[in-house]
Amino acid sequence: MTADPYRLPRTVTPRHYELAIAPDLTTCRFEVTTVLTVDVHEPVSQVVLNAVEIDVHSAVIRDSSGAEQSGSVSLDEELERMTVTFPITLATGEAILTIAATGTINDQLRGFYRSTYTNGDGEERVIATTQFESTDARRAFPCWDEPEFKATFAISLLVPEGLTGISNGAVIEERATEGGMWVTFDTTMVMSTYLVAFIVGPLVTTDPVDVDGVPLRVACVPGREGLAGFALEVGAHALRFLAEYFDIPYPAGKLDLIALPDFAFGAMENLGCVTFRETALLVDRDRSSRLELERVADVIAHEIAHMWFGDLVTMKWWNGIWLNEAFATFMEVTCADAFRPEWERWVSFSTERGVAMVTDGLATTRPVEYEVVSPEDAEGMFDVLTYQKGGAVLRMLETYLGAERFRAGIRLYLRRHRYGNTETTDLWDAIEEATGEPVRSIMDSWIFQGGHPIVSVDGGDGTITVSQRRFRYLADEHDTDSRWQIPLLVRSLDDPPGAHRRALLTDASSSIAVATAPVVVNAGGWGVFRTGYSPTLFTQLIADLSRLDAIERYNLVSDTWAAVLAGQAPISEFFDLVALLTDERDPSVWDAALDGVSLMYREVPPEQRPAFSSWVRDLLGPVFASVGWEQVPGESERLTKLRGSVLGALGTWGEDTPIQERARALHADVVAGRAPVAPDLLPALVTIVAWTGGEAEYELFWDRIRTASTPQEEVRYLFRLATFPDEGLLVRTLEATEGEIRTQNGAFVIAGALANRVAGRSAWAWLSEHWDDVMKRIPDNSHGRLLEGIVRLTDAESVRDVAAFLETHPLPSARMQVAQLLERQRVNASFAERERATLATRFAN
Ligand code: BES
Ligand code: ZN
Repeated sequence: MTADPYRLPRTVTPRHYELAIAPDLTTCRFEVTTVLTVDVHEPVSQVVLNAVEIDVHSAVIRDSSGAEQSGSVSLDEELERMTVTFPITLATGEAILTIAATGTINDQLRGFYRSTYTNGDGEERVIATTQFESTDARRAFPCWDEPEFKATFAISLLVPEGLTGISNGAVIEERATEGGMWVTFDTTMVMSTYLVAFIVGPLVTTDPVDVDGVPLRVACVPGREGLAGFALEVGAHALRFLAEYFDIPYPAGKLDLIALPDFAFGAMENLGCVTFRETALLVDRDRSSRLELERVADVIAHEIAHMWFGDLVTMKWWNGIWLNEAFATFMEVTCADAFRPEWERWVSFSTERGVAMVTDGLATTRPVEYEVVSPEDAEGMFDVLTYQKGGAVLRMLETYLGAERFRAGIRLYLRRHRYGNTETTDLWDAIEEATGEPVRSIMDSWIFQGGHPIVSVDGGDGTITVSQRRFRYLADEHDTDSRWQIPLLVRSLDDPPGAHRRALLTDASSSIAVATAPVVVNAGGWGVFRTGYSPTLFTQLIADLSRLDAIERYNLVSDTWAAVLAGQAPISEFFDLVALLTDERDPSVWDAALDGVSLMYREVPPEQRPAFSSWVRDLLGPVFASVGWEQVPGESERLTKLRGSVLGALGTWGEDTPIQERARALHADVVAGRAPVAPDLLPALVTIVAWTGGEAEYELFWDRIRTASTPQEEVRYLFRLATFPDEGLLVRTLEATEGEIRTQNGAFVIAGALANRVAGRSAWAWLSEHWDDVMKRIPDNSHGRLLEGIVRLTDAESVRDVAAFLETHPLPSARMQVAQLLERQRVNASFAERERATLATRFAN
């Protein structure tokens, strides 16, 4: 039907899969029999479906005439397809196709793969598990591996004695067989192949919790089940909250949340059988920081949101992946916000949106939605622009329409399309129908063009004029005249709280009547744009920061820093603004300020670092003094979080010796088990110990990694190995990514090493020498991530070297990300060059 080589013909389509999978965890081989009920729509003699890296032994069909014939199989490696050719043309109607195949349980973290861990007796144990999104179900069984070919799945697993088998449905039958048990699972609803999952291994499960009739469990390796309580609480909350939000019952019969020691992503929304990396599910709530707990709550809510948005209603094709992920991101924050309002999760989401806007301010950014042809194109969609920008754009729409009306549109969309597949526009149409607003044209302007605008605001008493142009870090005279339909929420600070006027800016500029200055044009802070106030308006606005909401203050700081980084404002504006933050107690606002501090720290010449650090101490010292070391009973969660951030900043960029000493002493207490330390201090303590540490601390870190009692504790140390200020230790860390460090964590460690403040260049040298091995070992989807540290290599020579190297060593699965990282590196480098003299004068000793 289509000429696209990556799309399967529709002459024969699947309706039901019966899968029988027999894994052998010793040889890491598996046998799979797939019995497919298919519809033959035309009299053809060939059936084409997806398969790769499996050996197909036989394919037999019985068509509607009752005749049975066996086909010959040919495989196309490149297109990942198999063609079965039958001697006689198939009769149209229902047919049963039976395919027998074998394969290897691989170590690539995709398809049917193995995860390992060492048990209490020091023996290595294997877990066979699956990860199919986007297009890897075809590595485990022959299938129509496109999201639009929805079918039902009846899965059976051969589970060896003493092991546990889990799949999408609940267990409905167990039949003893030699050496184990054939376990059969309940047939699923119609769904896409990328949502199938099956797991066999030495896992333990918690007793099910009944959540309004849905049994909810956590599964993990033995010994870690004590870390499941928080996940069960979040999961139960999310199930109830989301069923109510969507006004549709949970679409599967049970829900298992499964923690795996090796996992390429954070988590995966397999229907009823959600898989996670351990840090994203298992947590000790009494020994973790706010941020670590929020992360767990986020990931769980995100994946459970997908059970409706993604699993029940699914994109037709992979160009729709962004909406799937952006909506789950939006919902994860909505759900976490309902779970713990005191976390102020929407305020902290502004920093995530900020991260996306950094990439989106580049010439090399991309539209949120674009055409997807090959599987690689689809892989390129899993990035900050999909998740964070996409989520932020949905939040902007929700804020503009109002939460109730937005939700009515979502409900309409899900009800109308359940069990089906959709295009992005189906969602806009449903929200448009529910609200009567021009949702489609607004959203098209945000989705189909890259970048975002800066809205300039001028005027004052009575009216303001607002105008838009694209915001760019590196100016370019060929800049396009992009236009957005910008939802503005305008308020005067004299208006009562919550009051604002809505305006849709569709032209290059327009004027808006306002009561009195000072005026905010992004009231509540949810617009995905930067704002450039005229000097007069800016001065009025900052006269009393306490009249602004936290996100509005975040935006002021973030927009000012962005303007400085882009060379559109003098750096003095940033210094002047942060000097006004003495009374600021919101950690996200400080995050925006510390973004600037951290880049400047790197660019100030070494002789001037002491003066720079002293400025950091003057800035943050009073804040920390007022927050104190000790958690005060009843203090806000935000303040607790702030304490950790400010402490970390003072102990590093601030080089605050008394703080460093006390932090090291407290850390020693923790290690010795002497005194309890508030968990929110722990990440900062570990950061400071690494920042000031040498060989002894480095050895201690490894010891802590090996004996960690929670997944968070392990990565808290692991990810900071790369921050020790010593070239020899850095090389040891890099070498460990080829040995002891799990491949799932390697990319984070390498990225950190490239950003190392004394030896980033050596890390680059190491990486370029070990390039082929590293790229083979680290999963493809993390190739972009591991290069993130290059943005900190801002000397002219590094900028040249890195670009030249990547030119001759392209990474197909991270093409766009690489271009973006190279541009960010240039943005930072030109900032450094432009401001060198100013910084030198300002921080002359
Ligand atoms: N569907 C994704 C997992 C995924 C990512 C599959 C990329 C294939 C390619 C899942 O829902 C997801 O978004 N996971 C996130 C965590 C989430 C909380 C942001 C992840 O893995 O990072
Ligand atoms: Zn997702």
